[in-house]
Amino acid sequence: MTGRSCLTIVLAAGEGTRMRSSLPKVLHPVAGKTLLAHVLAAAPRGPGTSLAVVVGPGHEAVASEAKRVRADVMTFIQHERLGTAHAVLAAREAIARGADDLVIAFGDTPLISADTFARMRAPLQAGAALAVLGFDAADPTGYGRLIVDDGRLTAIREQADASADERRITLCNAGVMAFDGKTVLKVIDKIGNANSKGEYYLTDAVGIIRDSGLRATVIETGEDEVRGINTKAQLAEAEQVMQARLRKAALDSGVTMTAPETVFLAADTSFGKDVTIEPFVVIGPGVTIADGAVIHAFSHIMQASIGSNASVGPYARLRPGTSLGAGAKIGNFVETKAATLEAGAKVNHLTYVGDAHVGANANIGAGTITCNYDGFNKYRTEIGEGAFIGSNSSLVAPVKVGAGAYVGSGSVVTRNVPDDALAVGRGQQAVREGWAKRFREMKALAKKPKTG
Ligand code: UD1
Ligand code: MG
Repeated sequence: MTGRSCLTIVLAAGEGTRMRSSLPKVLHPVAGKTLLAHVLAAAPRGPGTSLAVVVGPGHEAVASEAKRVRADVMTFIQHERLGTAHAVLAAREAIARGADDLVIAFGDTPLISADTFARMRAPLQAGAALAVLGFDAADPTGYGRLIVDDGRLTAIREQADASADERRITLCNAGVMAFDGKTVLKVIDKIGNANSKGEYYLTDAVGIIRDSGLRATVIETGEDEVRGINTKAQLAEAEQVMQARLRKAALDSGVTMTAPETVFLAADTSFGKDVTIEPFVVIGPGVTIADGAVIHAFSHIMQASIGSNASVGPYARLRPGTSLGAGAKIGNFVETKAATLEAGAKVNHLTYVGDAHVGANANIGAGTITCNYDGFNKYRTEIGEGAFIGSNSSLVAPVKVGAGAYVGSGSVVTRNVPDDALAVGRGQQAVREGWAKRFREMKALAKKPKTG
């Protein structure tokens, strides 16, 4: 929006008791990102904008999550939970600085978009004192109803205070409001608590604006964008909506998915060109997938970087700190953690690679384990470029296998292996000629049925 400064206040002081969780409500994740982070990411940003979050007493974790997402955020504490208007006034100091627009959003509506925030600010420029985000609710129970008269918003009636007629209204308050910054403090200071809950309702601002001869208006949006989260069931519904959005965005950007409805993405998943994701893949936060990579079915990936033309799975698990170079191959039942695999490295079957560096084109045989933990500390394994690790080997860290070296199958490697050397660390094989035949004959004789 040109020229107008804007303060956004996100209310996040709610207790969220209906989540039945020790985690503050706004810290629950949707698509791998907290509810609060989704709202903050959509809030107006850039020159002339500022941002504040109102948190409940003892909710330091909420304040620090806000700072993590937007370093410039101001945080305020609402010491008593006396209603949404009271919560806004916890940030009085920020409001008093006098931004042109004051936008109020709720920390528990993660599906709101940046575009909607921008639409909300437009009526202010045209002289309105307040714009309220409204939606047509499939079931309006519990929401504040928008009373519109001749195109003007004249009141918002909370469920508990609404008449039977008013309860039939389906146009509801989504919670996002954009106030003209010059008049807002005078309006909010007039709000009282003479209602059935004894709370200071921000929604009463509408009636006060009407009585002062100023104009309030409604900006409409779809219900999916404004779903508020109060329960775990609503959290799961929001996840579905968000996943549908993320899948569509991935498909639109050129990702191939044969069964997108079975693929779970994170809000920050990044894709190159010509990426293919097979069915039943779960991608957590912090994943980048470069051009031409293929993620085969039933793989689980988080905080990992997947190089161009790499192949992952089926049934692979890439844990945090995994980095795959170009053309690297991770096969079935392979787990990686804090592991870098350089270009062309292959780990095709049934293997654990943790706290490790694997050089380019190294080949790690089936059933190899990097033994990285002694019950107290973690240690690193280094595998050189072009090394070949025979199947069913244990590499006991800290240990290095040199470039081009071989490790014989079934070895337990506890000492470093020089470049181009062979290491074999296993029991010697013994062979006894004819032993099996003699054994069978002896057993057969002992088992002969007794006669007479
Ligand atoms: C509120 C609206 C209602 C709207 C609905 C949309 C009011 C009075 N009612 O009702 O019109 O239809 O949202 O979801 O505004 N909060 C605080 N401090 C408080 C009270 C609330 O920070 O003292 C925060 C909560 O954390 C939450 C938001 O404000 O993020 C809304 O509060 P909530 O109690 O969920 O209001 P609703 O009854 O849902
Ligand atoms: Mg609510």
